Formats: sequence, structure tokens, C-alpha cells
Amino acid sequence: MKKRKSLIAGNWKMNKTPKESIDFVTQLVKNLKKYDDREVLVCPPFTSLFPISNILENSPVKIGAQNLYFEDEGAFTGEVSGKMLKEIGVEYVICGHSERRNIFGETDEIINKKIKKVVEYKMKPILCIGEKLEEREKGETFKVIENQLKKSLENFDGIEKLVIAYEPVWAIGTGKNATPSQAEEVHIFIREYFKKHYSEEISENLIILYGGSVNPNNIDSLMAEKNIDGVLVGGASLKLDSFLRIIDFQE
Ligand code: PGA
Repeated sequence: MKKRKSLIAGNWKMNKTPKESIDFVTQLVKNLKKYDDREVLVCPPFTSLFPISNILENSPVKIGAQNLYFEDEGAFTGEVSGKMLKEIGVEYVICGHSERRNIFGETDEIINKKIKKVVEYKMKPILCIGEKLEEREKGETFKVIENQLKKSLENFDGIEKLVIAYEPVWAIGTGKNATPSQAEEVHIFIREYFKKHYSEEISENLIILYGGSVNPNNIDSLMAEKNIDGVLVGGASLKLDSFLRIIDFQE
């Protein structure tokens, strides 16, 4: 039995049209078992959020967004605000995914503004952190993680709402997941960071997800680790069978 309630989140990235999304969540709800110890979340592209919110309204599946902008409204062509997301029932927002950092140039300072906006609208930020391959090879993993946490959490006072996703960049979309013990080692480091800089209680309640090539074959061994409270799943969340199997993990 896990100590904290598990969170299984699907990050669809730039996949599925509104119609495909509706079909997917309709099937997901139909086939989902009833769980008390785990929460299920889907994070589709912006265009699918509104159409699926009607279907998921009275279901156990929660809705998340993959990003937001840190202003409420105005002349910000191409952006979507927290205010807009909140109104359609979004409960979680992924912030600082490595694709946002590396393709779209998001910095820890920008991510800091975003997580603040997420809690201002009473949603929960999923803050993604993780090292690149060359950083791991140079033995800098903990230094990178510590630095990302320090900068993105500066003057942030919504810590009880925060979810962390440890996503080593070299494991994302590569089919090469971190081993359960590699992931657990970093999760312990993250939990210690919160104990040191916040409190034992905050650290013990913090949900820390692992992300990076999670699939039906490695989910059980990852979830068997004490400090892995859930997963953020990309590719394997796009197919119903594999996402259902991941949700149905056995420790
Ligand atoms: P992946 O993506 O499961 O396809 O590796 C994970 C993520 O980027 O959140």
C-alpha cells in the first residue's frame, strides 16, 4: 500500500484532434476500474480541453493542461491563460516540461511565474525537472535538480498544491527509462530538499512523479519504489490498452 495517493497522468503532447480525444476519454471512462488509492489525469492539447470537459465532468478522470501563460488576458497572441483553463474545469497544469524548456526556451524564471499563476487560480502545478544526459554523465544530476527547484520555487507560496515530476531528459521519448533505483535515488533527493527547505510534513505529503518512457512493462517496478508516487506518461498514454494497464499498476 502506497503512503501517498498515486497520480497517473497522461501527457498527450501535440497528439489527438478534438474528435479523437472525445473518443479516447469516452472509452477510458467506460473501461476504467474503480480505485480509491489512485487518481487518473489526462493532459490533452488546448483544443481538446473544452470538448472533453463535458464528458469527464462527473467521472473520476481529472483534466490537466500542458502549459499556460502567466498573464490573465491581453495582447499575447497564441497564449492561453489560467483564467481560461480554470473556467473549463482544468485541475492540473504541467509547467516547465523539458520540451517547453528546450524547444521553446522556457527558463526557470518563466516557469516560476507560471506555477504562481496556476495556484492563484486554485489549480495544481506539475513542475517538471530533470537532467540532460551530459549532465548525468558529468555527475551533475543533483546539482541540476537543486538549481531547478531553487529557481522555479522562488517566493512561491502554494507549496501544498505542488506536484513534482522528475523527468530525466535522456529518458523522454527514447524508450530508455531510468531504472527504478536510478529514479528512486533522485526522488529521495527531492524529498530531502523539501524537508530541508520547507518541513517534514510538506516533504512527506509531496507527490513526486517519475516520467520518461514509462510503459506497461516497467510501470510495476517503478511504482514499487517507496518515493515514486505516480507517473507522467507520454507515448504510452496515447493508446487505451497501454494507458489502462499503467493505471492498473500492481506494486
Ligand atoms: P514519454 O514522455 O513517456 O513519451 O517518454 C514523458 C513525458 O514527456 O512526460
